[in-house]
Amino acid sequence: MSKVTQIAHPLILHKLAFIRDKNTGSKDFRELVEEVAMLMAYEVTRDLQTEEINIDTPICTTKCKVLAGKKMAIVPILRAGLGMVDGMLKLIPAAKVGHIGLYRDEETLQPVEYFCKLPQDISERDVIVVDPMLATGGSAADAITLLKKKGAKYIRLVCLIGAPEGVKLVQDTHPDVDIYLGSIDEKLNENGYIVPGLGDAGDRLFGTK
Ligand code: PRP
Ligand code: URA
Repeated sequence: MSKVTQIAHPLILHKLAFIRDKNTGSKDFRELVEEVAMLMAYEVTRDLQTEEINIDTPICTTKCKVLAGKKMAIVPILRAGLGMVDGMLKLIPAAKVGHIGLYRDEETLQPVEYFCKLPQDISERDVIVVDPMLATGGSAADAITLLKKKGAKYIRLVCLIGAPEGVKLVQDTHPDVDIYLGSIDEKLNENGYIVPGLGDAGDRLFGTK
């Protein structure tokens, strides 16, 4: 069974409060989402492997630890996942970025795929899927299925806010994928929106609607 980590860091909680606020406009919303993504990147990469190398300081030679092992890829689920990419790249600048385009059909709530472009060596990379919202979980589960079809083997999912229903669906469908969230909220409403949530992440990021 996959691990579910709620990153309840005070800075993340503080910023999430203003992200949720309906009076926060797109400019501030975008900046806050980027900042939270950067803070989450710190926690999500906690288990990356390191190796020792020799470094010459101005005083002497010493052994230092640097990142070792697999290269990384960040894969946002379009559109709203785009808001988390720059924050993640601030801490993981060497990562390549793939894109998966999915939208939820407003009536059936089922994800519809419209785009997929991934780094060609995706099977060798540690993949971090980013999307601010994990609601029914359909979009994230489908994106991960697609990534696996394209050869990805090491995948984690990072979301700002999740509903218990979405967490369960991803865990049931992809028990090998660890999930990181800023908050696990109460439930979904009858329209499939997370309660209390933040509304429609894509619309709030890009000022549509
Ligand atoms: C939102 C969000 C997730 C999805 C979550 O995207 O960014 O991708 O809904 O819902 P689910 O867990 O029930 O699948 P949306 O479909 O609104 O597309 P957008 O980002 O283009 O606005
Ligand atoms: N997608 C969103 O953007 N918000 C929700 O609450 C649910 C799905």
